[in-house]
Amino acid sequence: MDSTQEQLKLKVEQALVAAFGREWTGTDPMLVTASNPKFGDYQANLALPLAKKIGQQPRVIAQSIVAKLDVSDICEPPEIAGPGFINLRLKTDYLQTQLTRMHQDERLGVGKAKNPQRQIVDFSSPNIAKEMHVGHLRSTIIGDCIARILEFRGHDVLRLNHVGDWGTQFGMLIAYLREVYPQALTTANALEIGDLVEFYKKAKKRFDEDDNFKETARQEVVKLQSGAVDTTHAWQLLCEQSRQEFQVIYDLLDIRLTERGESFYNPFLPHVVTDLEAAGLLEESDGAKVVFLEGFTNKEGQPLPLIIQKSDGGYNYATTDLAALRHRIQKEEGKRLIYVTDAGQAGHFAGVFQVARRAGWVPDDVELVHVPFGLVLGEDGKRLKTRAGDTVRLRDLLDEAVLRAKQDLEARLEENQRQESPEFIAHVAQVVGISAVKYADLSQNRTTDYKFSFDRMLSLKGNTAPYMLYSFARTQSIAREGNIDFTNLGNEAKIILQADGEFTLAKHLLELGEVINAVEQELMPNRLCDYLYQLSDKFNKFYENCPVLKSEEPIKTSRLMLCDLTARTLKLGLNLLGISVLDRM
Ligand code: ARG
Repeated sequence: MDSTQEQLKLKVEQALVAAFGREWTGTDPMLVTASNPKFGDYQANLALPLAKKIGQQPRVIAQSIVAKLDVSDICEPPEIAGPGFINLRLKTDYLQTQLTRMHQDERLGVGKAKNPQRQIVDFSSPNIAKEMHVGHLRSTIIGDCIARILEFRGHDVLRLNHVGDWGTQFGMLIAYLREVYPQALTTANALEIGDLVEFYKKAKKRFDEDDNFKETARQEVVKLQSGAVDTTHAWQLLCEQSRQEFQVIYDLLDIRLTERGESFYNPFLPHVVTDLEAAGLLEESDGAKVVFLEGFTNKEGQPLPLIIQKSDGGYNYATTDLAALRHRIQKEEGKRLIYVTDAGQAGHFAGVFQVARRAGWVPDDVELVHVPFGLVLGEDGKRLKTRAGDTVRLRDLLDEAVLRAKQDLEARLEENQRQESPEFIAHVAQVVGISAVKYADLSQNRTTDYKFSFDRMLSLKGNTAPYMLYSFARTQSIAREGNIDFTNLGNEAKIILQADGEFTLAKHLLELGEVINAVEQELMPNRLCDYLYQLSDKFNKFYENCPVLKSEEPIKTSRLMLCDLTARTLKLGLNLLGISVLDRM
C-alpha cells in the first residue's frame, strides 16, 4: 500500500501532466504536510516555481491543475490559497478506512520497498588491541538502526564489521610481547583486553624510543605479511582476545554483525595499485604512489594526494577501503554502500569514493554513502573522558547506565510503595539503561556533537527512552485495567473519528510509513525518534480528553483500537531503533 502522501503526489503529478502536457512528467509536486491545520493536511506548492517555466500566474496554474485533479476518494474538494498553494484536507471516511486497515495489518500499513536492493552497512568497526571507544558506540547504535530500517523495508542487508585487524601496530605489539609476556602469543585467553591496551601503549613507547626494537618490530610485520606460522598464530590470538571483548558489548546492545576485517582485503591490495596504474591515475610523489584528488587542496593550494602505497611498500587505510569497496560492488553485488563513521573521516571517504569513481569501479546503479556523526562530549563540552583523562570504557559506561536505571526504579518503587521481584527490577533496569543510551544517541541529529548526560537520558520526562517506554507501558495498562485483549477486538471493529484529539492522533499514526521512508532515504534516525515522541504526546492528549474504558460502544472499541495502534506503532518504531519495550515498568 502506498502511503497517503505518495498517492497524493502521484495524483498531483498526473493532474499537472493532464493540464500542461507530457513534458511535465516527473515534476516534483512539492507536496508537504501543511504547516497549519487551518490549511488542511497537505499542501502542494508546485505552481509557484512553475510560473516562470510555463509563463502563467501561479494561481492560474494551480486552478488548471485542480481542474484535472481527482482526489475525491481521499480528500475534500481542494482549495487554492494565497499566491497558488493547493490545500488538501483528508476526508474523515478515508482516514477511518485507512486506520482500520492499518489496524488489521501486521506491518501497520508500511509497505516494503518496490525495488528491494542489496545494501551494505559498514558500522561499528573497532580496532583490534585497542579498546572500543564512544565513537565506535555511536557507529554501532546508528548503524544497527539503519540496518534494521532497511531490513524492515525488505532490503537484503549485509551488516559488515570492518575491524581494524591489520597493520604495522601488530609488529610492534608482537615484538614487545615476545620480550615481556611470550605466553600471550601462544596460549589462548592469557590476556585481558585491558592488559592488551596497556601492552600496546608500552610497545608504542618502546617503538618510538628504541631503534633496535623498531627493527625487530618491522621484521615481525614482514613475517606476518609473509604468513610465518608463529607470528600468524600470535596475531590470531590477539584478534581473538579483542573479539571476545567486543562481543560482550554487542551482546549487551543486541547487535548482529558479520566480521570482515581489514586483513580480509590484504590479498587484493596489490591489484588496487596495478589497476589504478592501468587507469592512468597513479603518480609518484616523494617515493609514494598516490592519486591526486580533484577539488581537494591543502592550505598552500596544492592538490591533495590520496596515498595508495607508501615509499616503504606498505599500504594505507585508504588502499584497504578501495579494495573493500570494489569487493562489495563486484563480489557482494551491493547497490548501496553505507559507511557509518565519525565526521572526521568525511575527507577520507570523499577521497576513496572519488578515486573509485574515476577508476570506473562504480556503476551508475550503485550509490556510495558516508553517514557521518559528531562527537560525544562530556558535561564540560569537551570530548568525553574519564576523570583521570582516559577514554571511557564502553562496558563501564553501559554498566553505569543500567545501575543508575536500577537506582531510579528502586526509588520510584519505594515512593509508590510497590513491591516487585528482583528479577523484574533487574530486567527493567537492563532495558531502561541500555535503551536510554541508545535513544539519547539516536534522537540527536547525528551530524552534530552531543553531550552525554546520564541524568538527562534517564529522565522520565522529555524526548528520552524512559518516557517512550513509559508511554508504551501506559497503553498496556489500559488493557490490563479494562481486562481487554488488544489482539481480539473483533473483526468487525471500526475506527470512528469524532473528537479533535482523535483526529490529531489518527493523522499522526498514518504518517508512520512516510517517516520510515524518509529515514530509509536520508538515513537520519532522529526523524523516527521525533515522530515517536510526538506520537506519545498526541496519544497522551487524546487519552486526557477522550475517555476510553468509560465510553459507550462503538466508540469504546474504536478508542481501544487507537490505543492499540499507538502501542504497536511505538513498539515497532522502538524496535527499529534497537529498543525493546516493557509491558510494565
Ligand atoms: N576502524 C576504523 C576506526 O576505528 C573505522 C572503520 C570504518 N569503516 C571503513 N570501511 N573504513 O576509525
